[in-house]
Amino acid sequence: MHHFHYRQNELYCENLPLAQLAQHVGTPCYVYSHATLMHHFKVFDEAFSDVPHLTCFAAKANSNIAILKLFGSLGGGVDIVSGGELFRARQAGIPADRICYSGVGKTPEEIDYALKEDILLFNIESSQELAAINKRAGQVGRKARIALRVNPDVDPKTHPYISTGLKKNKFGIDIDGALKEYERAKSLDNIEIVGVDCHVGSQLTEITPFVDALQRLCLLIKRLKDLQIDIKYLDLGGGLGITYDQEAPPHPREYAQAILQQLEDLPCTLIFEPGRVIVGNAGILITQVLYTKKTPSKNFVVVDAAMNDLIRPSLYGSYHHIQPLRKTNQESEIVDVVGPICESGDFLAKDRSLPTVQAGDYLAVMSAGAYGFTMSSNYNSRPRAAEILVKDDRFYVIRERETWQDLTKHERIPDFV
Ligand SMILES: Cc1ncc(COP(=O)(O)O)c(C=O)c1O
Repeated sequence: MHHFHYRQNELYCENLPLAQLAQHVGTPCYVYSHATLMHHFKVFDEAFSDVPHLTCFAAKANSNIAILKLFGSLGGGVDIVSGGELFRARQAGIPADRICYSGVGKTPEEIDYALKEDILLFNIESSQELAAINKRAGQVGRKARIALRVNPDVDPKTHPYISTGLKKNKFGIDIDGALKEYERAKSLDNIEIVGVDCHVGSQLTEITPFVDALQRLCLLIKRLKDLQIDIKYLDLGGGLGITYDQEAPPHPREYAQAILQQLEDLPCTLIFEPGRVIVGNAGILITQVLYTKKTPSKNFVVVDAAMNDLIRPSLYGSYHHIQPLRKTNQESEIVDVVGPICESGDFLAKDRSLPTVQAGDYLAVMSAGAYGFTMSSNYNSRPRAAEILVKDDRFYVIRERETWQDLTKHERIPDFV
């Protein structure tokens, strides 16, 4: 479900015509629908309303502070993977006790910052990280609340780059060695064990991998109980997929039902770290056609957005539906939609059937709300796009377009040059 729809051949976001917006703010720009964001967060969160739980939105999917604040206002927390994301979460007013910290490579500086803020918990990914957090917590006179991120060795059946719960992946602690690691954690002076965590991958379109992982975690929690280690939080990560093209992922309610069925009377507060399912279809990227170009073998539509703005097609071969902001009666043709970057890997769509467009037309790249802006870069010295939040018939610039001055503002020329 989302609020991007045609009315008399004009694409609207909620009650705002998008061509008008694009003319006003320029392109490329990311546009998010407030109503869709709210709806998606609530549907996910309410699916677990019968049990104690905390929905920690995965900031990596979309870290704009306006969006983090919106979810915070609905009672959500944030799942972070860096000091920068912690900073953003705090800027957005997310209470520290609703922040959990994942990631395999937390630096000493980041650990100290999270300890100072007194976040809810660290999801620990290795023995050395556990030792480092214990040491630093001791130095600042605190106890660090931790969960071990367990790698349950289940196949999430997703793209290899976003699959994380297999033995060969760099994430988590092997489930077979987890008991030993928990016993070690229990012996450390500055560590308080509070949870078990896992995240098996992203863009999952089936329920089975979630259930398989959960069954393994429940067994682990029972074994931990025998060792007098009580688990307060069970963090099941994120990963629920969305429809980009023909995928039919489970609805959050089906997902919740499957999870809750497995849990029986486990006395834990559940933590979830959804990203894509909340924001993916709540955002689009608007781009303008610069040129059209026919070669003996291909038709190209050259647009002003590129792989630096949306890297998913180039990086994962991902599909994003593309449609014009103004529908015409033009015949369709097969085209590659490409950006201005000097790489053949710079494309938004390949061999795609699109109504014939011309220079100046606007296109909407759909389902770009997750891992869109957050994965963008300045490659080819292209300023990053603006981000716009639409509410009803009004729009709010929640991140200004970068300028050429922004590109060089952190650079220095030494005297000898
Ligand atoms: C630890 C962790 N939690 C949550 C997420 C969010 O995943 P998704 O956006 O698929 O819900 C990710 C993404 O890969 C992750 O690595």
